[in-house]
Amino acid sequence: MKIFNDITALRKNLSNERTIAFVPTMGNLHVGHLALIKQAKRLADCVVVSIFVNRLQFLPHEDFNRYPRTFDEDCRLLSELNVNTVFAPDEKILFPTKQEFLLALPSVADILEGEFRPGFFRGVATIVLKLFNIIQPHYAVFGKKDYQQLHIVREMVRQLNLPVEPIAGETVRAPDGLALSSRNQYLNQVQRIEACHLYQTLVEIKEKIISGDKDFLTLQANATKMLTERGWKVDYIQIQKRSSLMPAHIDDQDLVILGAAWLDKTRLIDALEIQN
Ligand code: PAJ
Repeated sequence: MKIFNDITALRKNLSNERTIAFVPTMGNLHVGHLALIKQAKRLADCVVVSIFVNRLQFLPHEDFNRYPRTFDEDCRLLSELNVNTVFAPDEKILFPTKQEFLLALPSVADILEGEFRPGFFRGVATIVLKLFNIIQPHYAVFGKKDYQQLHIVREMVRQLNLPVEPIAGETVRAPDGLALSSRNQYLNQVQRIEACHLYQTLVEIKEKIISGDKDFLTLQANATKMLTERGWKVDYIQIQKRSSLMPAHIDDQDLVILGAAWLDKTRLIDALEIQN
């Protein structure tokens, strides 16, 4: 496994590869990331994983400084999976000068996560575009846990005609349903037990919709009330149309339920598709 900090050396190393599948991460790898990497290995000869905690996608008051950084353990896991190439640049490699060119995003970036984390998707899209340009992968794998991120990357690829195929990976969950996330380790024992209720709430909404309840606004409001009563601070629980991520209408068939909520100082997000 080769580890690169430098762009020129990385590009030279990748120049002879026939097919490249790329998995961008911020490190602190868990089984969710590893599942995406296994998926990438089935897609291409060469798998590139990036590890970079991207300052552009954190708001000033967010957890950029305390975001867990576990580079040595990440590399151990990646070498066990026989990943070919790791790109782990220092900040000054990706941002030798202030990043002044930033993408302007469509309005879907302003709802859901975008409403509560303004500028977040601009930061994500800008770094993902830079990484695509550096690595020039044929495939790039993104998890469905960050459902809106996946949607925005797909739209960016489509609208900017980027020569890469985004691939979706299923959400990997703990046995109690909690979506694996680097931020789960901020939870104390009591919060960790409570945390599965975000997913449970999405499952309950899904079951009600499947059994014919199409009053989406009431479903959202009841779920929010229920979580609030359990001590959560809910940012949103929304039933959206999968293809556009806009609010679902009664006749829509392709649905996804997205949720974000706080347990004390820890913010968790999750998403659940409704299969037709
Ligand atoms: P990070 O949170 O490290 O996630 C990297 C990738 O792993 C994302 O595509 C994310 O959706 C996926 N992932 C996280 N938890 C998962 C789970 N439980 N099951 C399946 N996939 C999961 O997302 C980012 O980093 C950044 O925004 C990034 C795209 C790297 C840009 O900085």
